Amino acid sequence: MSDPRENSASTAADGTSFDQLLQAIDVNKQRYLTDLVEWLRIPSVSSDSGRVADVRRACDWVHEKFAAAGLKVQTVETDGHPLVIAETPAVPGAPVVLVYGHYDVQPAEPLDQWISGAFEPTIRDGDLFARGATDDKGQVLTHIQSVCQWLSTGVPLPLQIKFLVEGEEEVGSGNLERMLPELADRLACHCVVISDSSQYADGQPAITYGLRGIATYELTVRGPSQDLHSGSFGGAVKNPAIALCQLLSSIVDSQGRIQIPGFYDRVEPLTTEQRQQWQQLPQTDEAFASGIGVNELFGEQGYTTDERRWARPTFDINGLTSGHQGEGVKTIIPAVAHAKISFRLVPNQDPAELTQQLQQHLTDHAPPGVSWTLESDHGAPGMLTGIDTPFAKAAEQAIEQAFGTKPVFIREGGSIPIVTRFQSVLDCDCLLLGWGLSDDNPHSPNEKFRVQDYYRGIQASARLWNEIAKQSN
Ligand code: BES
Ligand code: MN
Ligand code: MN
Repeated sequence: MSDPRENSASTAADGTSFDQLLQAIDVNKQRYLTDLVEWLRIPSVSSDSGRVADVRRACDWVHEKFAAAGLKVQTVETDGHPLVIAETPAVPGAPVVLVYGHYDVQPAEPLDQWISGAFEPTIRDGDLFARGATDDKGQVLTHIQSVCQWLSTGVPLPLQIKFLVEGEEEVGSGNLERMLPELADRLACHCVVISDSSQYADGQPAITYGLRGIATYELTVRGPSQDLHSGSFGGAVKNPAIALCQLLSSIVDSQGRIQIPGFYDRVEPLTTEQRQQWQQLPQTDEAFASGIGVNELFGEQGYTTDERRWARPTFDINGLTSGHQGEGVKTIIPAVAHAKISFRLVPNQDPAELTQQLQQHLTDHAPPGVSWTLESDHGAPGMLTGIDTPFAKAAEQAIEQAFGTKPVFIREGGSIPIVTRFQSVLDCDCLLLGWGLSDDNPHSPNEKFRVQDYYRGIQASARLWNEIAKQSN
């Protein structure tokens, strides 16, 4: 019987071997970097309605990259930003892997805090600085480069690889979520591979088996029909900014415990085993604190930092505006106050149920004399995946070979809204391989990706296809 998986680590028709592929990856480093720089120059900020054409250009860029390497590729229109779907030829009997990533980026503001322009990629000290460098253009491009290199070197890929690169991850992936059932046949796979997270620490690569979910809202409090003189009217009306502060502070206590009735009902306690395993991880609170410029960490009592970041739900204010923001004093009672808020959720918590609970909580706590509205933006549940899969074993091998260190298994606190949908709609395993570092500044000024991690990511990716095929033999 001819088993196509025997192709793993074997040779092309012209005798090109897997070792030659690895050499080719080494030789082409500079070109990979030039590619990334070109893509990063395109300001594909998905939340900015003034950037629609730029987002399209970033989509076209990746479409072209696939087309030039000979993959079958299509740009799929949505009600928002387009998706790119590409695939290598089917390999009968071998596993199918879907690589998912996003070409959209977060806004770059505050611009004055960038040392070099957010969309003028610049290398300093081995780090490539630009919005999207680590989140997610640099990371998803590692897989694109590795597959393009396999194809151009002419070593037969031992499995089929599909790609889905979208432009709305940073705005919640709502359109992709709606379209996933109709795309399910085309995206059918055994495992989805995502590089959109981090290594555990410098020198310590990781495989991520869990993410938190998310629920985001905008809360608006309105008082008088326009701003009022705070001397003439202070004492006569409720100040909407104060009302907003009071409402927000009713949501969480000074220890970080969320006060919304029922909020913790579905939160599973951590197992002793789980806690012991995480306690073995090498990072200290001191190092973690100093890396982000605080003198002390803060969070829910009775949990370690990693437990709080990965497996406990949290509440945050992401943006807060009301009243005079310009220079100097302006003594007013503002007519309106806004907050952008978000909750990080753990598996089993349901964002829709939280919306109900939050509405009720605000109704119960809203002070008289003002009105309020709550708008729900994005919601996605938390995610957990097995670590005992052939895909995880393959990734362990590939990462150890490329990074020189065995990966640790971790969870992360960020959210990738579509992942649980992949699990349920595509019924596949999920492999999260973060090549970034925890100080890469995603969503912040001076976002970066270490050039060496970009290269090692490409090497690990190239080896991964081989290892997955071996595991499935
Ligand atoms: N790449 C991140 C998700 C992430 C962050 C995973 C940190 C692991 C560690 C992703 O691009 C992201 O930022 N997602 C948003 C989703 C939101 C806008 C709906 C997030 O987590 O805030
Ligand atoms: Mn991302
Ligand atoms: Mn992001």
